[in-house]
Parts: sequence; C-alpha cells; structure tokens
Amino acid sequence: MSSAKMKKAAANAAMDWVTDGSIIGVGTGSTADFFIEALAANPRKIKGAVASSDSTADKLSSAGIELYDLNSTGTLSLYVDGADEANQQLQLIKGGGGALTREKIVAAASTAFVCIADSSKQVTTLGQFPLPIEVLPMARSFVAREIVKIGGDPELRDRFTTDNGNVILDIHNMEITNALELEHRINQIAGIVTCGLFAHRPADILLVGQADGSVEKITRQ
Ligand code: 5RP
Repeated sequence: MSSAKMKKAAANAAMDWVTDGSIIGVGTGSTADFFIEALAANPRKIKGAVASSDSTADKLSSAGIELYDLNSTGTLSLYVDGADEANQQLQLIKGGGGALTREKIVAAASTAFVCIADSSKQVTTLGQFPLPIEVLPMARSFVAREIVKIGGDPELRDRFTTDNGNVILDIHNMEITNALELEHRINQIAGIVTCGLFAHRPADILLVGQADGSVEKITRQ
C-alpha cells in the first residue's frame, strides 16, 4: 500500500474523535489534507475549524467549512495533524511544511491532539528528520551559530517564508535523546519563534496507517 493510502486511512480513522457541532483545530500537510477531505464528506458534523496555516485555511474554506479565529473559540476539544516523526512517547518532530508555530499554538490550545501518520513516521529516536526551527529573519545567522554550539548542523530552507513572515532553519544531525530538554533549550535562543519539537505538548493519540490497510492506535501513557 502506498504512503498516501496509509495517510488517508489514518485521516479517516481520526473522524471517530470528531464530535457533532464542535470547532476543531486542523493541521497542515498531505495527511491533514486527507483529514480535510474526510471532514468535507461529513459537512454537517462540525461547526467549524481553526486552521494551522494559510494553506489549510484555503482548503477548509474550499471544502465549505467555516473558519474560526482561535482568539474567539476558547479551548478546542480536538486538534488533528500529521507529523514528520513520532517516537514511542508520542513526542513529535513537525514543521516539514513550515507551519510549526501555528501548529504548536493550536495543539497547545486543544484538549486532545490526535496525530495521523503513515508507518514511515514512527521512529525509536527523533532526529533523523531535520528539525525545523522558525526564526526571525534578522536573527538567522546568530541562531545558526548558537545551534552549531549545541551540536546541530543548520541549513536555511531555500526560498521559504513562513505564514508569519519568518525563515526556517532545518537542523541536521541531531540525535534527540531528551526531547523535553532540547525543546526547552532551543526555545531559549533569542530570535527563535519556536522549534518543531512537540515534547511539552506531545500527541495524545497516534493513528498509524499500515501497509495492510489497517490503522494502529497508540495512546500516550
Ligand atoms: C507541517 C507539518 C506536517 O504535519 C508534517 O510535515 C507532515 O507532513 P505530511 O502529512 O505531508 O507527511 O508539520 O508543518
């Protein structure tokens, strides 16, 4: 089974967490896009959604789903999003699509975070996927030097600007054994908006589409 089919199976399975009349948070990326398709097939189920990126907002609108500003919703009952890597504690690397900051905000503002993924995203140790960090443009070189000091190998994402007007540094060669500590440490560097480690706010449920078409459900302990 292709990775797209595994993503779609996981996205469809996430519909079990969607309750009628709710306003939910929706993530960004190809797996989240399958979830938007599933929502669109059930248009009366939710009241609306908070988007984690401009591109997700466009897709939700095209699907006829009403958009809400997070400032007007209070705590959301559910956030559904993909990931670039997930470990056994359901700590994640996110930001492959560059939407990590808004994704982290919406995840933090949600009671339940259901992460949807194909089986290639499951890892024992985070860090094989380069860790994205969103950086204010004027701080780019300073932040890169600070990242080198902690053992990372930063690379400026080419011709990419985030929805917030910032740049992304992708950090290579970080073997992340203590994600909680590293997330905290990186986020202390001046000029960083946030890093793509989701350890302080990990997923609560991980739905993993498998090659045989089934979906494995992993619940955070
Ligand atoms: C975007 C993200 C995505 O969730 C992550 O990159 C996974 O993408 P995909 O679902 O396309 O594999 O964090 O910022």
